Amino acid sequence: MVRQEQLCSHAAPKRPTHGGGRVVHSAYKRVVVNPRFSYVMTAGHHLPSMAEEIGRSLAGRIRFIHPKFFYDEAGSLLFEQITTLPEYYPTRSEMEILRSMRPGLAGFLQGDFALVELGSGSAKKTRLLLDLLAQRQETVEYYPIDISSIIKESSLRLQRDYKNIKITGILGQYENGLSFVKGIACRKVIAFLGSSIGNFSPSAASRLLKNIRLAMGPSDLLLLGLDLAKQRDVLESAYNDFAGITAKFNLNVLKRINTELGGNFDLQNFEHLAFYNQSRRRIEMHLRSRQPQEITISSINLSFKLRRGETILTEHSYKFTHGQIESMARGAGLGVKGIWHDSRKFFAVALLSP
Ligand code: AVJ
Repeated sequence: MVRQEQLCSHAAPKRPTHGGGRVVHSAYKRVVVNPRFSYVMTAGHHLPSMAEEIGRSLAGRIRFIHPKFFYDEAGSLLFEQITTLPEYYPTRSEMEILRSMRPGLAGFLQGDFALVELGSGSAKKTRLLLDLLAQRQETVEYYPIDISSIIKESSLRLQRDYKNIKITGILGQYENGLSFVKGIACRKVIAFLGSSIGNFSPSAASRLLKNIRLAMGPSDLLLLGLDLAKQRDVLESAYNDFAGITAKFNLNVLKRINTELGGNFDLQNFEHLAFYNQSRRRIEMHLRSRQPQEITISSINLSFKLRRGETILTEHSYKFTHGQIESMARGAGLGVKGIWHDSRKFFAVALLSP
């Protein structure tokens, strides 16, 4: 049989599409870096700005900074460091799984696929998937979606190592990235690794999974990485590393608010707090005020007082059971093709399809 080789073309929807009741305008600003690498910026189309969002979440009854704001340039580098810490098992466990599942995964990859990645970051794990695709296909189209401009550097690095890759980066949040990739006119594998879905509450995770499902064609695949519920000490060590990198990562968000929004946070006055909330099955990260203090963030005209011991919530990182993985998939209209584990059963990668 002769198959026509065809690159995926992107047909941006002409009319606004409705996502979650909001109108998503598909106007993308494209920057062409070289003939095989361009990126589009989707930020600011319909989602609130960092100033608006943080203004609201810090003024509320439960003071809160969304974890997506960790990932400025410095935060992305600190996260990269976290992934190499001895206590932080998720990245190594997931790499082990991706390596060992490749022969099995290959069986599901008949014909050409584009690779879409949600939260690609440094794209180190991506290489394990690209190796598989780049061997079998003449060209691999890769669509990394990330909120951090780290995708510019990581894409250039990938280009050096994979000659037959064509990259379209999407700089922005998942919601916008998904409406962009919905327009890709060829089969795709969507990778959503690192248990980043764990940052979402169970109901928000279900909604996100449904949105991913809506961006998928009938024979597309979703590779979902999930951290599994386990012993408290293993979990808590992973978020309280001896070298203090996770603490730095957590505190860095205050530094970011200082520089980008005109905050007056004194980092010395806060301490990193991370613990496992077993009944909710999640790691919680907070920044705890060491003393009574008054915070002002000038660009958003916000000021508030913190008592000694009062905390600002910065992250929930949910851990999953197999039952949850299966019901979450089913609820989103996705079937489970397989679930793979590392040798210690710390982490899981599920292969899902509509
Ligand atoms: C990127 C959300 C998966 O929850 O383990 C690492 C982020 N926070 N250490 C996680 C994180 C503190 C990470 N995720």
